Amino acid sequence: MRVIRASVVHFPDQSPAGEEARWELFDDAVLWIDEGRVKGLGAPEVILAQLPPDVEVEHYPGKILIPGLIDLHVHYPQLEVIAAYGTQLLDWLNRYTFPAELCYTDSEYAQAQAERFLTQLLAQGTTTALVFATSAKTSVDAFFEAARGRNLRMISGKVLMDRHAPPGLCDTPTLAYEESAELIERWSGVGRLDYAVTPRFAPTSTQAQLEAAGQLLRDYPQTYLHTHLAENHAECAWVAELFPESRSYLDVYDRAGLVTDKAVFAHSIHLDSQDHHRLAVAGSTLCHCPSSNLFLGSGLFNIRAALAAGIKVAIGTDVGGGTSLSMLSTLGDAYKVQQLNGETLSPELALYLATLGAARALGLEDKIGSFDLGKEADCVLLDPTKLPQLEARLERGMDLRETLFALMIMGDERAVSQTWVMGEPVKTQA
Ligand code: GUN
Ligand code: FE
Repeated sequence: MRVIRASVVHFPDQSPAGEEARWELFDDAVLWIDEGRVKGLGAPEVILAQLPPDVEVEHYPGKILIPGLIDLHVHYPQLEVIAAYGTQLLDWLNRYTFPAELCYTDSEYAQAQAERFLTQLLAQGTTTALVFATSAKTSVDAFFEAARGRNLRMISGKVLMDRHAPPGLCDTPTLAYEESAELIERWSGVGRLDYAVTPRFAPTSTQAQLEAAGQLLRDYPQTYLHTHLAENHAECAWVAELFPESRSYLDVYDRAGLVTDKAVFAHSIHLDSQDHHRLAVAGSTLCHCPSSNLFLGSGLFNIRAALAAGIKVAIGTDVGGGTSLSMLSTLGDAYKVQQLNGETLSPELALYLATLGAARALGLEDKIGSFDLGKEADCVLLDPTKLPQLEARLERGMDLRETLFALMIMGDERAVSQTWVMGEPVKTQA
């Protein structure tokens, strides 16, 4: 049993979605965790009255408890290429990324990198992520073993590529099917793990391989679909050339049966209204990756336009295209991208997209994303006083909403004081 007292912010299950999302704010509350799950949340006098008088209470005045953050698009084998200079997407892949991913056929290497990645992720307060591995089975086994060892709720899958990549990273439609099926049978639903069928993006798969991916989704309906879509202008032009019969980039995936309510499309910047309509009807999710889009010069995703079209939206760091595993700083980048669109991003919507909104996108809202009773107790304690440049404003007095906004603009792992997974501490800052 664990009893945590702090300020608390979360979106309860009854919250509407998107821009109407309504959070529950407590300046002072107690979260009661029992056997890794939420057993109670409320005013201290209400919750403490239900507990033995000598119960140990972890009391963090001035700190803010939120549900574990959810990163809906990140590549664990790309920490090696974070902050690589001078290119946009297609050159960046060839020059930096593909060479780095070639190393993941080595199990020991993959295991060490998976552990390092998860340690960093938890330090940032991210407790669930949708994660690209590489095309090597060893990379997927290494990742799932590491996540299982830490009892994390994680989703990953083998990358499918059968052209336009180094031979050492390419498979075939048949191998893509067989190796994915083997991994799904080994890992899907084990502990807190789920599997995502992961064609990298349209340019690196033949039509036959995209169809194999569609077959996997039909044969294993519990699996997700995770890929990239319409990130960069040169990429979009290339896809139009490679698939001349398709109406649009999204249509390439649609013809292969990949546009479903379990699909997550990273980036999705350059779409038209017909694509938007199709995504809304299918119930797919678009994952906005602002840090990556700025770093690689890909373009400005419009959150409000996607939500207004009735599409689910989530946020991803996209490391190593993105420059930080911090969801706080990525939300700050999302705010700045919306400013460039002439829009804004409220702290409410930002936190919603990174918690309950992402859980709903994954269909995991009965398990994670908020502190409703019975949910898995993955949570994060934020400490604004750990940001020295914020001290002057804090001294003048900030309410909880202003503080959360400042944390998303200025925060990073320094502001993440503790992370708990199923109620167990996995990061403790002095
Ligand atoms: N498109 C295809 N592969 C990648 C990748 O690794 N990162 C990003 N940002 N976009 C991609
Ligand atoms: Fe990516």
